[in-house]
Amino acid sequence: MSAIARFSDEWIERVKSSVDIVSVIEKRVDLKPSGRNYVGLCPFHDEKTPSFTVNQEKQFFYCFGCGTGGNVINFIMRSENLSFPEALVYLARKSGIPVPSLSPQQQKIEEKKDRLRKINHLAAQYYYRNLRGSFGKTAREYLKGRSIDKALAREFFLGYAGEGWNEICRFLESRGINLQDAEEAGLIYQGRRGYVDRFRNRIIFPICDHLGRFVGFGGRIVGDNQPKYLNTPETLLFHKGSIIYGLNWSKESIKEKDRVIIVEGYTDCIALSAKGQKNTVASLGTAFTEHHARLLMRFTNNAVIAFDGDAAGEKGTLRGLEILRDHGMQVRVAELGDGQDPDSFARTHSADEVQQWLSSAQPLMEYQINKTISKYDIQTTEGKLSASQELVSILSQLENAVARDEYIRYAAQQLRVSEQALRSDVLHSVAKPLGSGLPPHIRGKNRHNNSNLPTSTLQGARQSTLPSGDELVEREILRWLLHEPGLMEELMEEGISVEDFEVREYRHLFSLMIQNRSDAQGASTAENLCNLGEPNGKWEEYLSSFRIVLWRRRLEKIEEKLSSLENERKGFDIHMELYRLLRDYYRVRSAIVLSIREGKNE
Ligand code: UTP
Ligand code: MN
Repeated sequence: MSAIARFSDEWIERVKSSVDIVSVIEKRVDLKPSGRNYVGLCPFHDEKTPSFTVNQEKQFFYCFGCGTGGNVINFIMRSENLSFPEALVYLARKSGIPVPSLSPQQQKIEEKKDRLRKINHLAAQYYYRNLRGSFGKTAREYLKGRSIDKALAREFFLGYAGEGWNEICRFLESRGINLQDAEEAGLIYQGRRGYVDRFRNRIIFPICDHLGRFVGFGGRIVGDNQPKYLNTPETLLFHKGSIIYGLNWSKESIKEKDRVIIVEGYTDCIALSAKGQKNTVASLGTAFTEHHARLLMRFTNNAVIAFDGDAAGEKGTLRGLEILRDHGMQVRVAELGDGQDPDSFARTHSADEVQQWLSSAQPLMEYQINKTISKYDIQTTEGKLSASQELVSILSQLENAVARDEYIRYAAQQLRVSEQALRSDVLHSVAKPLGSGLPPHIRGKNRHNNSNLPTSTLQGARQSTLPSGDELVEREILRWLLHEPGLMEELMEEGISVEDFEVREYRHLFSLMIQNRSDAQGASTAENLCNLGEPNGKWEEYLSSFRIVLWRRRLEKIEEKLSSLENERKGFDIHMELYRLLRDYYRVRSAIVLSIREGKNE
């Protein structure tokens, strides 16, 4: 269960108000009073002149340099890299506010997790000593052969599990550890004649969470046997879908460089780190999940993917990268030749060359386009056709219209086809799934608006005789009202008010009509409208168009707000969540509108 559910709003408020944002920030930033605010050098980006501002009255901070801002909890989240609930507990402890107790059942689980982490830590130390002891000689030589020297091994807390079948069992027992707990930590399992060590004759790679707590292990066979790697199975602590290897060692560097390098394997991670790329983590060969994305995005929005030459282009891999991208990560791909991996590349190249290779990484979309084209022989018409078909389906998934346009140009160049032709194919394919995209005049206004929100049936409307622009919709509604004043009642029932008219003269006329009044300006507008003759088409259709215009405007306002919230408090999970929920809400709502409308038209 999520930790946040256990805190009431009152408690959260209590924690917030128990601390003063100035005194919290003062401990980390040198603040000087400036008018009503305090200013200092921003801790979240590099700067020489202070643009970091703290407002005591509003208990808010904001940096004019990097746009980071929020309340005291957001500050702690950012500066200590904590999640929202973690930051709350952190502040509560500082203020001596008791953290709400968990249910007895939850408390038991928390205690057990603590116990398992301690056991893992003990085991890691045991393996570590083994690697340095007399039994560890072969393992040390093996590592040396892979350019992992003593210092590097220490940096990553590498260890060695001996060949015996119950060495860790006996060690843990001698330390008074309950073997059932050790089993739950994944270190040992029930064999036919009692407990057996999971890791035997393996180099041990301890795996920590981002706070440096030992949650699991990877074990590589020394030499060439199978399976090459064994990992801790799913336990209370170890979830493959949310763990990122190396984050505990690399997070500071990731923040500093505002970039994370993601590789697949333990050894890739270690080798790149040894070549100065300290901001490297490993995905451990699993597909990326939303958890991974969110965790990484606490530290940076930029990822460079450095996967094995043969793996990077695979469907499953690409899907994972798309997950990162769809969560707002800027994803680039650093390519390697077939049969090469970052480990072998790093070991055979200089630090500068490694740096160069990583900085040559291309945006994910470009990479996908090139990969797709390289699959076909585009000298032949057939090959060109197949490649372009596949590209159309990739490009039409891009939600951002501006980016889509750019990549259409890029793809057309690479494929040597006409840009217009490719664009029209992509747009055709984009429009298809929903039957209605955003009308072109709203597309691309802000980044949220670029998604395929089915906010309007106006596009469909445009094909019939109905007016298209908002202004026309407003005008037609008034024409109908002038023609048949009885319809006003229906508008009122809909809750439509003066503010819903954006064109100034129409708004004025409508307000007069509601009040049964008249003035010179209103009369002139009315006259102009009446001169257009009798309205044609159906009132219901105009009303429905108007309703949709109003909904879309509200949606745009909400999106604008969300967009600014999100920009203000980068990495604040809750706002992302809120945004997603709202977006879904509107998707559903629009779908309903669509179906009502279609029903009416039939
Ligand atoms: P690789 O086979 O690329 O690992 O798998 P590697 O690190 O390059 O291996 P060596 O030591 O250089 O030969 C990438 C990752 O996939 C997971 C491991 O986490 C590995 O680091 N994996 C691989 C397994 O869990 N089990 C396996 O049998 C193989
Ligand atoms: Mn490898």
